[in-house]
Amino acid sequence: MKIFLDTANVEHIREANSWGIIDGVTTNPTLIAKEGRDFREVVKEICEIVDGPISAEVVSMKSDEMVPEAQDLVKIHKNIIIKVPMMPEGLKTIKRLKELNIKTNATLVFSPNQALLAAKAGATYVSPFIGRLDDIGHVGMDIIRDIMIIFENYKFETQVIVASIRHPIHVIDAAIAGAHVATVPWPVLQKMVKHSLTDVGIQRFLDDWEKVPKSK
Ligand code: E4P
Repeated sequence: MKIFLDTANVEHIREANSWGIIDGVTTNPTLIAKEGRDFREVVKEICEIVDGPISAEVVSMKSDEMVPEAQDLVKIHKNIIIKVPMMPEGLKTIKRLKELNIKTNATLVFSPNQALLAAKAGATYVSPFIGRLDDIGHVGMDIIRDIMIIFENYKFETQVIVASIRHPIHVIDAAIAGAHVATVPWPVLQKMVKHSLTDVGIQRFLDDWEKVPKSK
């Protein structure tokens, strides 16, 4: 499974990338706003750190405006993936961008039907938002399992990015479901790497190493 980092914070991206486990990055307007920096400048910097798909979202609501916005965004870097909101104008945009050989990520997907439509329109990726479904009392991961079956039944090439991840168990469940990608917030990635028994084990080895007689 590919792991993307779900952030626009370049320090966190740089650190995670140095671990050798980051395949791409997803941003959205909220994540960009948190950084308080110029949108294009941040996205360009992210592209220079991570050699993989970097999602940048359009904010127009009409396809006739989304398409030129996307064409402008892909000028930032060859790895830019255009995030397009799941709605009729978004589907039109996905179709038109595919014809222009521009890769897309259908975002704000909350049902298998939305994922099916995005795949049919030609999305490169779909991003079902698991945590936000959990937040309203649904089992978000259920739609990942359904989408994986649907895409496999019809051999869609569209890849599933499990998004809106809240904790490490979401990542495990995404991997068990066979999702192509999990996009992981930095605090969740930090939790994934840690285990209290690892910490105890390291400390014990260090303490015992002090007791080993050393020739010099
Ligand atoms: C990723 O593509 C999404 O923008 C992100 O995962 C949304 O997460 P949130 O529900 O925590 O805002």
